[in-house]
Amino acid sequence: MTLQRVTATRYVTPLREGGSLPGVVEADDLGTYIVKFTGAGQGVKALVAEVVAGGLGRALGLRVPELVVVDLDPVVARAEPDWEVQELLARSGGPNLGMDFLPGAIGFDPVAHTVPADEAARILWFDALVENVDRTWRNPNLLRWHRELWSIDHGACLYFHHSWARADGVVGRAYDASDHVLLPFTTTAARASADEEMAAAVTRSVLEAVVAEVPEEWLAEDAFFSSVSAARAAYVEHLLARLADRTWVP
Ligand SMILES: Nc1ncnc2c1ncn2[C@@H]1O[C@H](COP(=O)(O)OP(=O)(O)OP(=O)(O)O)[C@@H](O)[C@H]1O
Ligand SMILES: [Mg+2]
Repeated sequence: MTLQRVTATRYVTPLREGGSLPGVVEADDLGTYIVKFTGAGQGVKALVAEVVAGGLGRALGLRVPELVVVDLDPVVARAEPDWEVQELLARSGGPNLGMDFLPGAIGFDPVAHTVPADEAARILWFDALVENVDRTWRNPNLLRWHRELWSIDHGACLYFHHSWARADGVVGRAYDASDHVLLPFTTTAARASADEEMAAAVTRSVLEAVVAEVPEEWLAEDAFFSSVSAARAAYVEHLLARLADRTWVP
């Protein structure tokens, strides 16, 4: 399986709150997407993490907006008055990551909003598996849309892929959930049943299908692997090994 591929037709506006200068982009399928660009400082691994972690979240039944690949012709940059955006677009020709734009979504506020314990526990379990450090009360990366909770911004997950030579050694790395925005909404019982349910759902075939969605171009940049298929296999094996040793479960 591969992600749907669309072509950017118009750069609408930058999202100033995002650290990587994501932008709102319209595409030739008439969709509007939040796009993270290959030319951003976070690098292409952040986009790989969005596809693998975001796709896994979706496969596990969490609400993650649909992901697509947005092809960008750098010519789109020419009409952009902001030099910072223009340079980013000029560096980002080819495939970029798009996430379905949720119009009118608001940031989750743990003081004003509540989350059912089972849902909070499932998101917490997922974040622990993919080592998501970006779900704290300071920066929840959760949106409320149509009264439901949507998880976004998985670019900092899968930290192990920044150093494949050391990845085996960190496979069972503990997850520090103390600052997780949803921890207070969970219960011990909800966390235990989330572990049972979610661990059973993350199978080899689910992982292979999710990893298969990463555009080849992004994996080909990793010099550690001799082939793109070896890179894909490494993500699958790492996550399966992490599942086999669930000492990290919050
Ligand atoms: N699918 C979406 N629909 C609507 N708004 C979105 C969507 N995705 C992101 N946003 C908005 O854009 C902001 C930045 O997105 P995101 O957190 O993914 O980018 P980032 O560059 O990784 O940000 P940061 O590093 O600041 O967390 C979000 O906080 C949210 O307000
Ligand atoms: Mg964010």
